[in-house]
Amino acid sequence: MSASIRDVAKLAEVSLGTVSNVLNNPDKVSPKTVERVQAAIDKLGFVRNESARQLRAGKSRSIGMIVLDVSNPFFTEVARAAEDRADQEGLSLMLANSDESETREITLLELFEQQRVHGILISPQNQDIDHIRRVRDRGTHVVLVDSSSIDKGFSSVSVDDVAGGKMAVQHLLDCGKTKIAYVASRFDFPQVADRLKGAQQAALNAGKQITIFEAGNLNVIAGRNIGAQIIALPKSERPDGIFAANDLLAIGIMQAIIVDGSLRIPNDIALIGYDDIEFAGAAIVPLTSISQSAEIIGTTAVELLMEQSDSNATKQVVIEPQLIVRASTKR
Ligand code: RIB
Repeated sequence: MSASIRDVAKLAEVSLGTVSNVLNNPDKVSPKTVERVQAAIDKLGFVRNESARQLRAGKSRSIGMIVLDVSNPFFTEVARAAEDRADQEGLSLMLANSDESETREITLLELFEQQRVHGILISPQNQDIDHIRRVRDRGTHVVLVDSSSIDKGFSSVSVDDVAGGKMAVQHLLDCGKTKIAYVASRFDFPQVADRLKGAQQAALNAGKQITIFEAGNLNVIAGRNIGAQIIALPKSERPDGIFAANDLLAIGIMQAIIVDGSLRIPNDIALIGYDDIEFAGAAIVPLTSISQSAEIIGTTAVELLMEQSDSNATKQVVIEPQLIVRASTKR
């Protein structure tokens, strides 16, 4: 059985309050007593019961973060920025992956709520957020990340994905491309649907139509598979400009084109992604992408949570995307 705080007090021959002060406010205790208590802790192998302390304090010093897909560098870049900003507030960040599953999302929300986290940052599956609203109404602060909130009772930080999609296709048109394709999956995600909406607006303004290719997923393997299908099309049916819903898909399509070897990027097919993850610039043909500023999203999400903790105020922040031009589109 693990040692208790009473065992430590007894071995160090001090009161329970002194042990508690050594653990929580060591500057209130003489260095000699701190040393004696720490020696007893080390000898007994005492580990504090953080969850009991958190329950007594009402809120823990941790933030729970739930992302859609932890294997997508976009989300880990957002989480990293959130963790750095949380650290400045003396808070730690616990990262969890809903894996694009609403069931898992609900389970993780319940877990963080039971842990009495300081608050939850979540990239929700879709606009149906009743289950998230219930967590908020039971007293846990929630910030929606990479998702705009029509419910002003939530703080949210998101990117104008309609503008981002429009920017992506306008860039392909400006590069002289005339047969534009949108490659995506999970069209039920607002991010994916909004990018298509913007893409269609840009194409319409130019008197063009977007051809939609549905990939099996939003990852590199799905990009490689759909890329092989696109390459195999007869020239008359093949797009000369591809807008992929995210960089992972675009990198998979790029791999398929380069391995096949019959088409050149950007001459025969220009390629643009979305997220501007680190691998975009490092791709074998540096990938043009629409930047979501993952760092700003992560930092802003924590700042919105802190504001909500202090004053219960909520705010909806929408960030403008940026076009990052690289060799996959420019001549
Ligand atoms: O999860 C799908 C996509 O939505 C990610 O690649 C990122 O762009 C997010 O906004």
